[in-house]
Amino acid sequence: MIIDKIREVQKMNLKEIIITAKSLVADDKGLLAIDESNPTCNKRFAAAGIPQTEEFRRSYREMIITTPGLGECISGLILYDETIRQKKKDGTLFIKAITDMGIVPGIKVDVGAKDMAGHPGEKITEGLDGLRERLREYFQMGARFAKWRAVIAIGKGIPSRGCIEANAHALARYAALCQEAGFVPIVEPEVLMDGNHSMEQCFEVSEEVLRTVFRQLYKQRVTLEGMILKPNMVLPGLTCPKQESMDEVADITVECLLRAVPAAVPGIAFLSGGQSGELASARLNAMNARFKSRLPWALAFSFARAIQQPALEIWHGEETNVSAAQQALYHRAICNRAARQGKYIVELEKK
Ligand code: G3H
Repeated sequence: MIIDKIREVQKMNLKEIIITAKSLVADDKGLLAIDESNPTCNKRFAAAGIPQTEEFRRSYREMIITTPGLGECISGLILYDETIRQKKKDGTLFIKAITDMGIVPGIKVDVGAKDMAGHPGEKITEGLDGLRERLREYFQMGARFAKWRAVIAIGKGIPSRGCIEANAHALARYAALCQEAGFVPIVEPEVLMDGNHSMEQCFEVSEEVLRTVFRQLYKQRVTLEGMILKPNMVLPGLTCPKQESMDEVADITVECLLRAVPAAVPGIAFLSGGQSGELASARLNAMNARFKSRLPWALAFSFARAIQQPALEIWHGEETNVSAAQQALYHRAICNRAARQGKYIVELEKK
């Protein structure tokens, strides 16, 4: 009897999770990641000459969250443990302000990519210990989706099978725990852009990583209809002398995804990985313009830097710059919504 009840509750949970997953990629919207850990946020602040304190991180996130019209383009906001507990100056919890705007709040739950023992130059993402309890708390706070990022570097002799398998296994264990707790897992295996590798090498590694991740997701009994994949685009390394055109990137990225991502997944929301805002929008646009009507999943965005960077620079830690920074943020969000529709044009950048 009790088992039947538990199964019934699990089924209900899953229904909700699937609805949330679909809503995150509906209406040509996408995700905005403001889930930089404190060290990463401080690094970005330091580079922009902004003081690295909790109060500056709070005001920066308040500036983002209160951007007028954000909900027109953004379906979900990914928060960090510090941010999910913070409030606006008027005392409203960020998470309430976000929910009131019709945006789904999410939370980054990994605790970072650490050096992997026995695998020089490679990382393994940690955070599974105590995750069930942390998820319970975040759910009570109102978060409805979560994120876990694995990083895979391309270099001499890497990535190794050991690194790919360990990271894929952790991603799948995280995703299963998320669905048990009522969350949509955002599964992020990022093949890094750093290096001089070719686009073809990135293709091979990305395909192998994605195939391994989906094998593990299947083994861990993750419901694919209730997750979102957050992959890298297939790109040449940052210092590779040959940099392919927009259409070539679009073609090879879609080819890779078609080979490795099951049709049951409702959406693919790319990370930007250090691309400029304009390039990230243009490449996403090329994929949607060329393939949108023929793909089984939505091609969306889950950018951090590619949406935030201009706003961060304009804001510069000063109250008087809030409105101009918000306009810059809104602009990037609008460009990415246009890219989802295949309607992004460079002229939009001049507006
Ligand atoms: O995990 C990484 C972020 O969520 C995406 O960041 O768009 O700056 O690569 P990015």
